[in-house]
Amino acid sequence: MEAQLRIERPVTTPILLSSPDVGDLEQQYVMRAMQSGWIAPLGPDVDAFEREIAQRVGVDHAVALSSGTAALHLALVAWGVGAGDIVLTSTLTFAATANAIAYTGAEPFFIDSDPVTGNMDPALLDEALTALLAAGERVAAVLPVDLLGKAVDYDAILAVADRHGVRVLADAAESLGATFRGRAAGSFGAASAFSFNGNKIMTTSGGGMLTTHDGDLAARIRYLATQARQPAAHYEHTEIGYNYRLSNLLAALGRAQLTRLDSMIARRREIRAMYRDIFAGVDGVSVLGGDDDSHDNVWLTAVLVDRDVAGWAPTELGAALTAETIESRPIWKPMHLQPVFVGSRSLLNGSAETIFDRGLTLPSGSVLTAVDLERVRSVIDGFLAKRRY
Ligand SMILES: Cc1ncc(COP(=O)(O)O)c(C=O)c1O
Repeated sequence: MEAQLRIERPVTTPILLSSPDVGDLEQQYVMRAMQSGWIAPLGPDVDAFEREIAQRVGVDHAVALSSGTAALHLALVAWGVGAGDIVLTSTLTFAATANAIAYTGAEPFFIDSDPVTGNMDPALLDEALTALLAAGERVAAVLPVDLLGKAVDYDAILAVADRHGVRVLADAAESLGATFRGRAAGSFGAASAFSFNGNKIMTTSGGGMLTTHDGDLAARIRYLATQARQPAAHYEHTEIGYNYRLSNLLAALGRAQLTRLDSMIARRREIRAMYRDIFAGVDGVSVLGGDDDSHDNVWLTAVLVDRDVAGWAPTELGAALTAETIESRPIWKPMHLQPVFVGSRSLLNGSAETIFDRGLTLPSGSVLTAVDLERVRSVIDGFLAKRRY
């Protein structure tokens, strides 16, 4: 039989953008919850997780829910937002933000970004609110998003919303652990939503949390999230509810993660520092969010590449990383460009489209090892060297 020569590349483990960072401690917490018998589905870990998040964020109430999307949706439902209402939100966000608005029947109205941070531009928000309210439209809420772990300029956004008498629901899905002027993300406005999806700064596998200072709102959301069940033995129902609560097992996972939140943020900060070092002095490349990230949770690091100055496109760097099984991704495609929201109105300044065009999100997970980071670094260094940096 003829021998066949097969030359195979060594198998390298893919390096992902932001994988869950879980280990022994998480196993212990989940195992303890299982052994306690609190499986179906609420229990003491849910209560404790809510207390611990509320304390961490500095709010009076936290409600553990099945996702960040559920938290956004229920806040809007609890306020009675529905058809005929408008909710102003950031165009540069993940679809979940806009979807939560659409679920209620309200119309999402997209506001463009500050060019440095990608977060909602307060001046544009002011302009949109002025015009919509003058035209007699019903604006039910403003829904800004803390993009990639940098808190919105809440001084400016809240001042504008207050002046127009409109409530703020903060999408803090990505920003647990970040602060703005010494206050934690998740403590601003009338309510905030966190996500504990698997790719977030900390995870419950899937889950979310609604935080608020408003006890009535928290109680109503708890009620709506458990199928709007009236306290009667036969389960009386007077309105439509949802099955949106977080399970006790997942809350246990969240409690373990929360004890490690600061160290996971510190690790992401080291990764951010590595990227700053790699790209320092590379003309045409900057880190999204600006130079000061000291108050961010630095969830994901994204670079902005100005092709005309750099001489290469972010997609080229992305392709070089993909060739070495390293994940990278464009920034979210702005909502006003999404086919599904094509009929929605927006107020634009071009920033979100520029960030989308120039942005590339790089591996940022706290689970990445020194060896992983060295691999990422050498691929980027090699890419830049070929372009004579
Ligand atoms: C900005 C933003 N909003 C909302 C969500 C929705 O969170 P979840 O996936 O927990 O529903 C996410 C993340 O997935 C997000 O990144």
